[in-house]
Order: sequence, then C-alpha cells, then structure tokens
Amino acid sequence: MPDLQPYWMPFTANRYFKQHPLLLESAAGMYYTSRDGRKILDGIAGLWCVNAGHCHPRIVAAVQAQVARLDYATAFNLGHSGAFELADQVVKLAPGNLGHAFFVNSGSEAVDTALKIALAYHRARGEGQRFRFIGRERGYHGVGFGGISVGGMVANRKAFASAMLPGVDHLPHTHDLARNAFSRGQPAHGAELADALERLVTLHDPSTIAGVIIEPVSGSAGVLLPPKGYLERIRSICDRHGLLLIFDEVITGFGRTGAAFAAQTFAVRPDMMTVAKGITSGVVPMGAVLVDRRIYEACVGGSGTAGQPEQAIEFFHGYTYSGHPLACAAGLAALAVYRDEGLFERAAALAPAFADALHGLKGAPHVIDVRNIGLMGAVELEPRRDQPTLRALDVFRHCFGNGVLVRTTGDTIALTPPLIIEEAQIGQIVDALGKALKAVS
Ligand SMILES: Cc1ncc(COP(=O)(O)O)c(C=O)c1O
Repeated sequence: MPDLQPYWMPFTANRYFKQHPLLLESAAGMYYTSRDGRKILDGIAGLWCVNAGHCHPRIVAAVQAQVARLDYATAFNLGHSGAFELADQVVKLAPGNLGHAFFVNSGSEAVDTALKIALAYHRARGEGQRFRFIGRERGYHGVGFGGISVGGMVANRKAFASAMLPGVDHLPHTHDLARNAFSRGQPAHGAELADALERLVTLHDPSTIAGVIIEPVSGSAGVLLPPKGYLERIRSICDRHGLLLIFDEVITGFGRTGAAFAAQTFAVRPDMMTVAKGITSGVVPMGAVLVDRRIYEACVGGSGTAGQPEQAIEFFHGYTYSGHPLACAAGLAALAVYRDEGLFERAAALAPAFADALHGLKGAPHVIDVRNIGLMGAVELEPRRDQPTLRALDVFRHCFGNGVLVRTTGDTIALTPPLIIEEAQIGQIVDALGKALKAVS
C-alpha cells in the first residue's frame, strides 16, 4: 500500500478514507477490480463518464497509437487533424444550430468558457452591459469560480462566497417530493417554476442579463428531472428577452438519456451546450462548449472583429491542452464505438427495464423517492435524524462490500451505469441496493 497522506483527495473525506481506503486496480467492460482482487460491478460509469465501458479495446488502441504518433500538438495558431475531425463529428451529433466546438479539458472549464463566450457574444453585438447570469438552486456546474457562482449546491459555495461572480441570481430548483415522488421519467408538476425566470428578468432588467445556465437533468444534486413543459417555458422566456440558454450536458451528453443529448430527448434547443465526461468515455480528460452558429459568427466574423486585421485573435481564451491529441483520439474512438455498437439506442431500449428495476425499490426501507430517465436513476432515502448523508454512505459501503459501485449525493443514491450494461447486471445492482437498504439502520 502506498503512503496515502501526501495525496489531498478531491471531494473526499480524507481523514476517513485514509483510515478505510478503497483502491481500484484495473477495469474491463462493466467491472473494476479492487486492490484486494474483488470484481466490482460499476453502477455509475466511473463518475458518470465511462459510457462505452471500461478499457474498451478500440479506444485503448486509438490512444496507444496516437501517443506513439503525435504526443502533443501546440494548441495556439497551430493544429492537428484530430481536433478538427472531432469538432466536426461532435457538432454533427448535436442539435443542428450548434455548429462549432471549443475544446477544453473538463466540465468545469467548459462551464467557465461558456460563460465567457456569452459575455463575448453580447459585447460583439454592442450589448456589453449584459453581464448577469442566472443559474439554479441545486445546480452543479463544476468548481471554477464561474461554475460555483452559477451553481446552486450550498456546500460547494459557502467557503468561497467572497469570490463569486457579480450579478448572479438563481432559479428555484424543481425537486418536489410532495407532488412528484416516484415519477417515471419527467414529473407531471412544476412547469410553472420556470416562470421565476420571468420575475428575475424583470427584477434585474432584461438588458443586464447575458444568459441562463441549467442542467437539463440535474445530475450531482441527485438526478432531478425537468417537469413536463418546464424547459420549453425557460426557452421561450430566454427568447423573449434575448438571453442565451446554456444547457450543461456534462453528465447528460453522449447517450445517458437515450439520445445523444438531453436537448434532443426533451426537444428543446439550447444556444450553447457544455459537455465533457462521455466525450472520450472518460478515458482522457476533455470537455467542449458547443456553440450556436450565430454566436460564433458574431464573435469571430461579425461586428466583434470589425476593423481588426484577419491575423488578430478574436477570442482571448484557451488552454495549453485544448484539443489535446490523446483526448481527440479517445473522443473519435468513443464516438465510433457509440455509433457502431448503437449505444445511445441501447440506452433507450434498456430504459424501461432499468426503470422497472429501480421502481421495484419503492416500499424498501428508507426509500422516499425513485426517479429515472434513460440509464440515469436515483433512489432518495429519508435522512437519518441529525446525521444527513450518513445513511446513504452506509448503503454505498454495503453495496461496495457486495461487489457493486453506486454513488451517493446527499441522501440520494445515483445510478448511471455504462451504456453497455446487460439486464442481468441491472438486476444485480438493484439487488445489492435492496440488501443494503435492509441492512442499514
Ligand atoms: C453538470 C456538470 N457540469 C460540470 C461538471 C464539472 O466537470 P469536471 O468535474 O470535469 O470539471 C460536472 C461534473 O460532474 C457536472 O456534472
């Protein structure tokens, strides 16, 4: 066992972990192998990312070949064909208005980049006074200063309140157990919660607002689905007031909801989309902002660059590793696997069996809600009195002991398996969960 102290682990109870370490050693398909040699069925696709399953031979081979051919290509004012090919393929999967991709290295960078693009777009159109963003309670948009400002997960914000972006406000979240508990798919009640946007727009004056950022399905807050009609209302209020609508599809992208993107599942068109995770099936870090053609035109070709020589940089933003060759190779291979193995269609086809299995936990001890869409689901537990989150953590540990990896967020157990999962494995996950729920106090 290595010395565990030097590594400051992210989003982890370091003191507890280092007393009770859980280490993974290898992975293949639906399974991890732990350091003590046990097979662990992965119910959460790593961290909502390994959509093609672990160590997929085609993705592994593509990355191995790439690292031996071109390890790194200077990202600014030089390129390599993989980045252009991947941008082309990703935008072809996305809703038709999203014609351009800006590459980054994570979901957090994608979010902060999207916010900057929104400001640049309005400025290019002579509306530089639009500086405000509207996020949503319980939203998660990564951990950059932009992302935590528009995000709505209290624990991620409270230590950093002094350094938030100015002028950000938040929509109410849409989680409503009283009216919507145990909904299958989109809940029936709550479309009217979108009207809070109209009130915020009035309060702040629409001419000061740059855009709205929401996850079509909140992931990290515990798989909170949009009520029927909610996203459509948000879209129409944005249209009415010239606000850009940004969908954060870092989790929902690349097949999770049974289509390439949740925007397609819900048939609501965003002006920008942030993606990461599944773009490379988690194999190499990568993210992207997919951008409406008119936004790109305004920033790169339109009034934003009027009077500037063609050699002038249009957007002063980017990362050393934007469009990294290994990430692009992994991304191209992942997209080929998704296409050739029909994994988005597979997610849609398995969704009813996944829903049936999860909703079978209704009535199990502690369960106060079950919700699902595509291959994304959650089981919410009654918190222990005075000990929020600990019951769910006990369930996590019990499942891990029984060879199944689930994820907890607050008192919710989230399930987002790789899209290659078999029905019997769905059964195994739900079985392990059922046993854990009976075992924990
Ligand atoms: C919706 C959403 N946005 C952004 C992020 C941040 O991504 P990353 O951890 O790659 O920075 C996440 C991570 O889970 C996410 O779920």
